[in-house]
Amino acid sequence: MNMTEFEATLPWHPYPDLTDAERIARAHAFYETMRTRHSCRAFSDQPVPREVIEQAILAAGTAPNGANHQPWHFAVIGSPEAKATIRVAAEEEERRFYAGRAGPQWLNAVLPLGTDADKPYLEIAPWLIVVFAQRRGGPDPEDDMQNYYVTESVGIACGLLLATLHAAGVATLTHTPNPMRFLNRVCRRPEQEKPLMIVVAGHPAADATIPGHAAHKKSLDQISSWI
Ligand SMILES: Cc1cc2nc3c(=O)[nH]c(=O)nc-3n(C[C@H](O)[C@H](O)[C@H](O)COP(=O)(O)O)c2cc1C
Repeated sequence: MNMTEFEATLPWHPYPDLTDAERIARAHAFYETMRTRHSCRAFSDQPVPREVIEQAILAAGTAPNGANHQPWHFAVIGSPEAKATIRVAAEEEERRFYAGRAGPQWLNAVLPLGTDADKPYLEIAPWLIVVFAQRRGGPDPEDDMQNYYVTESVGIACGLLLATLHAAGVATLTHTPNPMRFLNRVCRRPEQEKPLMIVVAGHPAADATIPGHAAHKKSLDQISSWI
């Protein structure tokens, strides 16, 4: 992009002309939707249309981000072979993690979730969305500039991705095998991109459960202060 040329400004998209009561009702409704989201660790193999994933990625791509460089890439894995490769590599890392690499404090923190090194859902769920953060890039795909606030930007995009999938009735898990560098190889992404997470997307298995630990969310008083 030629940075000396600036595009014309556009008129603001009018927001819908709502009353305050309607705005409050919408905020309540969205919270009621989002409060039913939980990480799913047991998936069925029931398919999810590709179009749902496409729309969720487009929604993620609307996230605010540093200088509008949009420093993200979503590698979508649907092939059984690639999913199997990711499962084998992730379980290898996870076995080391649970065998002690995580350290006692971290292992203690994840204990209430009941997780272990076995990740069958990486093969069973219909889609794995591997999210990459780009250190370099720019507003246009061919740019090679410094990116800014990369982690913050990609984190917000992931939030929108998860919210869209949840609103579409698709269960997700944010999975972060540690370390994740093997994902560059499997997803054929350049070394300058950092894998941030695998978003597992699909339908919950009939016997899926929510750990009681995860159901406890802090209250408004506990997470906010008003000055
Ligand atoms: C960045 C990040 C990494 C996570 N990594 C894992 C993971 O590797 N395995 C897992 O089972 N859950 C993982 N989680 C899910 C959290 O354990 C979960 O979000 C938390 O316990 C709250 O539960 P909830 O999502 O059901 O509300 C991760 C979540 C985030 C945001």
